[in-house]
Amino acid sequence: MSYEHVLAPIEINRLVVKNRVVRTAHGTNIGQGRITDELIAYHEARAAGGCGLTILEAASVHPTDMGTLWLHDASVVNDYRRLVSRLAPYGMAVFQQLGHLGYEGLTADGGPPWSASELAGPSIRRPAKAMTADDIAELTDAFAAAARWAVEGGLDGVEVHIAHGYLLQQFMSSTTNQRTDDYGGSWESRIRLSREVVEAVREAIGGDVALGVRIGSEAVGDGGVTEHDCAELVRVLADDHLIDYVNLTYGSCLRPHKIIGGMHESPGYELEAAAPVVAAVELPAIVTGRFRTLAEADELIAGGVADMVGLTRAHIADPDLVAKSIEGRETEVRPCIAGNDGCVGGLNRGRLSCAVNPAVGRELDLPPLLPRAQPRRVVVVGGGPGGMEAARLAAIQGHDVVLFEAQDRLGGAVRQAQRLPTRSLLGDVCDWQERELVRLGADVRLNQAADVDTVRAARPDLVIVATGATGAEIPDISAVPQGSTAVVDDRFGGYEALGLAEWLATQGLAVTLTTPGRRVAANALLDLVVQPAMERLQALDVVIQTKVDTSPEADLTLTVVKHSHDPLSTDLANAGLTVQVIGDTRTPGTILTAIADAHGIDFG
Ligand SMILES: Cc1cc2nc3c(=O)[nH]c(=O)nc-3n(C[C@H](O)[C@H](O)[C@H](O)COP(=O)(O)O)c2cc1C
Ligand code: SF4
Repeated sequence: MSYEHVLAPIEINRLVVKNRVVRTAHGTNIGQGRITDELIAYHEARAAGGCGLTILEAASVHPTDMGTLWLHDASVVNDYRRLVSRLAPYGMAVFQQLGHLGYEGLTADGGPPWSASELAGPSIRRPAKAMTADDIAELTDAFAAAARWAVEGGLDGVEVHIAHGYLLQQFMSSTTNQRTDDYGGSWESRIRLSREVVEAVREAIGGDVALGVRIGSEAVGDGGVTEHDCAELVRVLADDHLIDYVNLTYGSCLRPHKIIGGMHESPGYELEAAAPVVAAVELPAIVTGRFRTLAEADELIAGGVADMVGLTRAHIADPDLVAKSIEGRETEVRPCIAGNDGCVGGLNRGRLSCAVNPAVGRELDLPPLLPRAQPRRVVVVGGGPGGMEAARLAAIQGHDVVLFEAQDRLGGAVRQAQRLPTRSLLGDVCDWQERELVRLGADVRLNQAADVDTVRAARPDLVIVATGATGAEIPDISAVPQGSTAVVDDRFGGYEALGLAEWLATQGLAVTLTTPGRRVAANALLDLVVQPAMERLQALDVVIQTKVDTSPEADLTLTVVKHSHDPLSTDLANAGLTVQVIGDTRTPGTILTAIADAHGIDFG
């Protein structure tokens, strides 16, 4: 495919961006507030992969906001210069997003968060200070100073974050702005702060540097900022020649699963809300929303839907997405599976990572794998995501790899999990691993339940045992009459119980989902994964009972608890073989933990 539309250069103000692929801002916390060598290496890998424009993660411009990158003093200018000089050879444009979380953020100075009014944020739940006129002036100056430092440091542009229900949208929304001064009340007054911030930033960076806004409807129903409000605001900013592009997004801190759509959302789920804003101005527009391929981006641009397309998580999963696609190697692109547990989950745990790409943020520790001078013979037992990843990594390093899989298909438990409602994307990573094993020439033996003799016959220097876990299988319900009752008892805390309950309900059973804990799926991401699943379960009349030790009687009871399945490793070790146990066989977990485990193997 030629990708002529998405690969065409585009002008933003005086800047020519080499193609229309954008990595929209995404918090990483890799530098824990600073632009460190690790953060630079993360972005450098993606610059080398051919991306056209990267917008650096929302930077906090003022100590009343913690953020994951701090622009609180001029020391950042030198950090930017180091970043820019490392990225320069690749020709990727770099902008900085500037923001303030308002009542949704922790504060760096320990004081109360700032907002339009004295409300508590939906997740922080700490009453905010209603900003005074002096606070507003200080904040506007802080945005301007941060923008100036970004440009002094050599960045190509700046973006003001007016989205996601954060501070500037807290002023815009009539629900969160209860002020009676010049910054509250009428529509003009509620957008005054956004307008003043953008004006101050424009003045600070001058007329020739690219400046845009990230904007989008909150998707909250009554009272929130709508797409028509957003369209009106960008029209005002464009009419005053303040901005050069618009970057569309969707959702807010009240509905974060709409900001970063999971696998239950379709590609392009944000487009309907983006359309009125894109149409409002004659400026380059960026759209985003679970796109993963250059082909999708090319089609959107060819169809006039937008001028540039965000492929953000797609680039977390595979930094070389653009380069591989241009070279006709699209099938080699490691797919983002939109589960969010590596990227958003990683950020919640401390820093960005990725379920399918453990090298994220560790580009300096985990440099590219190179063929070893002395190849070894590696036998992998079990072809789930962990086993396949082990085999793939061994094959890349030039080891001689044999993989035994008892089933007639690779993928292990994922092949079950991908049959659950909305979970089909899970299978994409196994399909990719399978293609890579073929490409790398690994010897994959299906329908072979390995025992000590078969493994020994393969003469391994190292055996990896990845035989998985049991306990979360989809039951055979062909003999269970429609309307029967079913109980799914969550004793594991992963997504499995939610998925099985949803599946049984869609098969016509009356389902109760129970857990002895305080919430079902306690280890799954609450906002992004559990909340949307709960909405679907409610629509299917699934009854949820928490803190239940003994589940109610039912025609069918499924207890969801995963147990390691390891029939082999002790016998292999007793036979004198060198053995490593990984993934669910070691500790039952997720695709993320299984793949991450494989990256910990020392192949020698
Ligand atoms: C880990 C993570 C952090 C994010 N942080 C930001 C941010 O700082 N600013 C922002 O505007 N959007 C942020 N986003 C949203 C992304 O810019 C993007 O809109 C979203 O991921 C959907 O695009 P995608 O499907 O291409 O990933 C973040 C997304 C992720 C996954
Ligand atoms: S963690 Fe999952 S959703 Fe996030 S980038 Fe990686 S594959 Fe995509």
